[in-house]
Amino acid sequence: MTKYMKKLTILILIFTLLIPIGCARRDEAPTNPQQPPEQEEPQVQIPAPEDMILAAENWKEEYPMIYESFIRTSRVQDHKVEETDLGGLHPISYLKKYPNIKILYEGVGFAKEYYVARGHYYALEDVINTARPKPGASCLGCKTADYEKLYVENGQDLFKMDFYETSQKVDNAISCYNCHRNEPGTEIQITAPHFAEGVRKLDNEPKPGTMACAQCHVEYYFEKETGKIVLPWDNGIEIDEIESYFDEIEHADWIHPRTGTPLIKVQHPEFEMYTGSVHDKLGTSCADCHMPNVVEEGQEYRSHWAKSPLKTVSESCGQCHKEEPDALIANVQGLQKEVEALQVEVSDMLVKIIEDFGQLLEDRKLEDEEIIKELRSLHRKAQYRWDFVFVENSTGFHNVEKAKQTLERAKEYAQQALEIIAENK
Ligand code: HEC
Ligand code: HEC
Ligand code: HEC
Ligand code: HEC
Repeated sequence: MTKYMKKLTILILIFTLLIPIGCARRDEAPTNPQQPPEQEEPQVQIPAPEDMILAAENWKEEYPMIYESFIRTSRVQDHKVEETDLGGLHPISYLKKYPNIKILYEGVGFAKEYYVARGHYYALEDVINTARPKPGASCLGCKTADYEKLYVENGQDLFKMDFYETSQKVDNAISCYNCHRNEPGTEIQITAPHFAEGVRKLDNEPKPGTMACAQCHVEYYFEKETGKIVLPWDNGIEIDEIESYFDEIEHADWIHPRTGTPLIKVQHPEFEMYTGSVHDKLGTSCADCHMPNVVEEGQEYRSHWAKSPLKTVSESCGQCHKEEPDALIANVQGLQKEVEALQVEVSDMLVKIIEDFGQLLEDRKLEDEEIIKELRSLHRKAQYRWDFVFVENSTGFHNVEKAKQTLERAKEYAQQALEIIAENK
């Protein structure tokens, strides 16, 4: 049992013992002294579905400033946007910005539509509106406060339920409930079942302000038979360890139509990328940078406006970094530019692999199964590493060293593949 769960269980026990009246819906803690001590990890108390406080508005009066800051995630102008032909604002399309990805992601939905992420306020709306196909209701796992309710009501059947039908029953995007259940102001509560399962595989438990975010900002996959969301962390959360796990279970998210390569589609591994970084080692949590304490109207509170910390450099970074905000921002952007340049360079190599290897196969110039297998293996390794950095939302900032090393490894694999292709032309 993790330290965090222990603390939480004790808190809940105290709570249920001290105030048994007025929380009638809470399941009673086992009180029979005859009962042997539970060997199983006791579950965190989940409110009954009808008692779940799911809408953020319910906390508006009690926590007006936190609520206001939370609602700021709806402000379109605060996200990375571009003007449309009609003068409106639209999230930036990765397909336009990085045209190579149409080729790299060929055969998967991201080649058709892929926009920069927006604020938490839009999570539900955006997943419903994307043109990408949704395999099932599991896709709601990181978009709505109602997910735990659906999970309690439907159990494992939820994963197989139709995405659109289920999303009709959902009223809320991300809200207080996702990180606090019914108890904002107490210790963070983990509501995502896949993360509760995943975190048990880790050697060290992350800080609460990191776990709250890692519930969603992680790499995951849908288990083939069940549609269940699984975090691929059995071997660890480093990039090689996740790959070795996927290799062991022979997992492929899709087969590239030109090269026949079984590929891994990485999602948004902010937590995995961040782990082990300069700032992580200092004990800084995701929330410390993205939701810093701020002072407004003479009152200090934890901002809940999860957005780019470059908009609040003084509050997010100022207690450690003494340089002028503009200088620090320029420093961050300089590092991001370096990572981006390397990312684009690797994506050019991957395009060449896909085009030339694909052509050799189409022309039947390459029929040696061993060589084909070797090329597919190199393509898989290179594209997985490129994707890991590309889809990680900080453009390398969260862990500049890891991002660069990963892209350098991708480059080595891609180079080997290109040499084999050249020999066989
Ligand atoms: C994405 C996760 C997340 C969501 C959603 C969220 N919070 Fe929080 N909240 C946090 C984190 C992280 C902390 C800091 C706790 C820590 O570091 O131990 C926090 C702290 C708090 C605190 C402690 C008081 C303070 O100022 O430090 C209150 C109260 C609170 N949240 C209320 C709310 C309310 C109300 C909502 C909805 C409007 C909400 N939270 C939504 C993650 C979240
Ligand atoms: C319940 C799942 C969930 C949790 C928990 C969560 N996020 Fe998110 N986050 C999302 C989704 C989904 C999006 C993309 C929303 C969209 O594009 O519609 C997102 C987007 C973001 C963005 C991009 C906003 C922008 O400005 O473009 C930031 C920053 C962010 N999250 C930070 C955090 C931080 C920090 C935490 C923890 C305190 C956290 N998130 C917890 C699901 C989550
Ligand atoms: C040391 C401060 C710091 C910490 C800690 C941190 N981040 Fe970030 N994060 C940043 C910066 C800086 C960016 C780049 C913002 C930009 O380019 O505008 C960023 C970008 C992001 C984005 C994309 C936001 C956008 O507007 O595009 C998301 C999502 C995100 N971080 C989530 C997380 C999560 C989840 C964690 C914890 C695992 C985390 N961050 C930890 C500083 C931090
Ligand atoms: C808890 C203290 C602390 C906080 C908070 C913090 N930093 Fe740092 N940061 C450090 C230390 C210490 C280093 C390593 C020493 C150095 O290279 O200057 C560092 C390194 C960096 C670097 C050098 C690049 C790297 O990753 O090696 C950048 C850029 C940076 N921080 C930006 C930021 C930004 C932007 C924020 C706020 C969003 C932030 N930091 C928040 C302490 C902090």
